[in-house]
Amino acid sequence: MKAVQAVGAGGPEVLKLVDVAVPEPGPDDVQIAVRFAGVNFADVNARRGTYLPPDAPPRGLGLDCYGEVTAVGRNVRELRPGQRVAGFATTAGYAQVVVTPATLVWPVPDGVRDETAAAFPVVGHTAYHLLATAARLQPGESVLVTAAAGGVGTTAVQVARLLGAGRVVAAAGSAARAAEAGADVSVGYSRLDPGNAGRIAIALDGVGGAVRRHALDCLGLFGRLVHFGNSCGEPEELPPLRELRERELAVCGLHLQRLRRERPDLLAHSAQALLGWLASGRLRIPVAEVLPLEHAAEAHRKLESRQVKGKLLLAVDGSKP
Ligand SMILES: NC(=O)c1ccc[n+]([C@@H]2O[C@H](COP(=O)([O-])OP(=O)(O)OC[C@H]3O[C@@H](n4cnc5c(N)ncnc54)[C@H](OP(=O)(O)O)[C@@H]3O)[C@@H](O)[C@H]2O)c1
Repeated sequence: MKAVQAVGAGGPEVLKLVDVAVPEPGPDDVQIAVRFAGVNFADVNARRGTYLPPDAPPRGLGLDCYGEVTAVGRNVRELRPGQRVAGFATTAGYAQVVVTPATLVWPVPDGVRDETAAAFPVVGHTAYHLLATAARLQPGESVLVTAAAGGVGTTAVQVARLLGAGRVVAAAGSAARAAEAGADVSVGYSRLDPGNAGRIAIALDGVGGAVRRHALDCLGLFGRLVHFGNSCGEPEELPPLRELRERELAVCGLHLQRLRRERPDLLAHSAQALLGWLASGRLRIPVAEVLPLEHAAEAHRKLESRQVKGKLLLAVDGSKP
């Protein structure tokens, strides 16, 4: 079958279309013929070598996918061949076929379009657990979303409202980009704290550096900053403990990869909520563009250019591995 792999660590040019063996499901797995694979910022980090040693062997990329179940392991009862499913691709989603534990994929309701289903797993679960599980959002609380024009950000603004948040503030590279997210207030990073200082209960930090510092300054009493990404690439540092004590703040983190490994039950819960909202039209995950699998390098260039509004997908024909 065809797959796109990173043949080294570096720029988008290290992504190559290669032939690899079709993965076979183990007893608790499903095999999926992929129709669309999601492109996430984590793939860019993996390609650059932020997660891998530079001389690592060719590696598959791609965290989430949508497609049709083609085979199930002998212990799998909940899914069957022919079902439309979306979820996490543990064997790497930039491929015609993936194999993944049955606990990490979910049937897609009829009302949800193929592209929307492909776009939801990483951004939807991240947004949900940032707010509901890590920050323990209470009804009416104000939320600040950084990187608000990106995949996680645009979803987090909507999920915050669906979970009962009060005022939602979106922040991005410019106020115009932040406005894409449709929050109550949209600001550029340079104007984050005036007007918001001390008024935010929960700040979602996907950028790091100076943006994290400004986000922290926006928090009021018992405010929570949830750290989940460092797109700016600056050194990652905790605020001084003394400041946290004196301002009564908490800093916590979220890493979806760990939830996938250790708490699939939490993901089953969020999948039910997210797919329900998508089917009823209460949640929209905009798809910026769909590129063919072999154009994965172009997709990465676009993501890194900071011009993409919404989610990028790769179209894969998993029916002919
Ligand atoms: N912890 C987890 O489990 C988890 C899960 C999913 C994603 N993430 C992380 O969450 C972040 C957002 O992911 P995503 O998939 O939503 O990515 P995305 O769609 O590419 O959005 C990233 C956003 O970050 C901003 N950005 C990009 N490069 C930047 C830079 N050099 N400096 C400052 N801001 C920059 C851009 O906004 P502006 O240009 O408007 O500033 C862009 O809208 C990433 O850091 C990703 O690694 C973490």
